[in-house]
Amino acid sequence: MEQNEIRLQKYLAECGIASRRKAEEYIRDGKVKINGKTVTELGIKVNPNIDIVYFNDRRVTKQRENVYILLNKPIGYVTTTKDQFNRNTVLDLIKGLNIRVVPVGRLDMYTSGALILTNDGDFTYKVTHPSHEIEKTYVATLKGIITEQEIQKLKNGVAIENYVTRPAKVRILKTDTVNNISRVEITIHEGKNRQVRKMCEAIGRNVMALHRSKIGNIDVKNLKIGQWRYLDISEINAILQ
Ligand code: URA
Repeated sequence: MEQNEIRLQKYLAECGIASRRKAEEYIRDGKVKINGKTVTELGIKVNPNIDIVYFNDRRVTKQRENVYILLNKPIGYVTTTKDQFNRNTVLDLIKGLNIRVVPVGRLDMYTSGALILTNDGDFTYKVTHPSHEIEKTYVATLKGIITEQEIQKLKNGVAIENYVTRPAKVRILKTDTVNNISRVEITIHEGKNRQVRKMCEAIGRNVMALHRSKIGNIDVKNLKIGQWRYLDISEINAILQ
């Protein structure tokens, strides 16, 4: 058998048309064509790189496997696929994967935490579209001791450039008078460029560290910084809801 040749029923099954047995039935019933010619014998092989296979007169192609990855991004990595300044990109962290994935949205270079990567363009489009409004939760370490009044401002919305941010969920996780820092959890639905940093700057606070702890309900608690894992189908569906 020439390399790349594969039994027709196996190819139909791999393309998601039906099980091999059912595919055999379809072949016998004359529903399958190779290069425009109906075939009804079962022994036939095809070379998917050369032959064009039709089922019910529609071209059959191999289903691409969709892959969804959750990365706990370290600081110092850019969220692009190629960087003009040769900096480390998030793709350097998932080198073992031989499928080309792209980041879903962005995390700035000095922000760590949850980042999804996928080869599913539809998913990326839906999740990053402003109408989707998926919640993203950040933990910001701020200089100084934040006041209730400042928290209220962040909750209500603050002006960043020409834009007033939408209501956010904000809570104080910790205030440390010895080191003079506060840790605040901020949950937003929007994704303006460097939004959380700008929100904190708008209330007069310097951001010393920023970490995205969650995308929707998916957190990176169990992933060490720089580690990644596959998302499972229920997690993907929850994000798409
Ligand atoms: N807000 C920021 O300031 N930076 C990010 O990376 C994401 C949200």
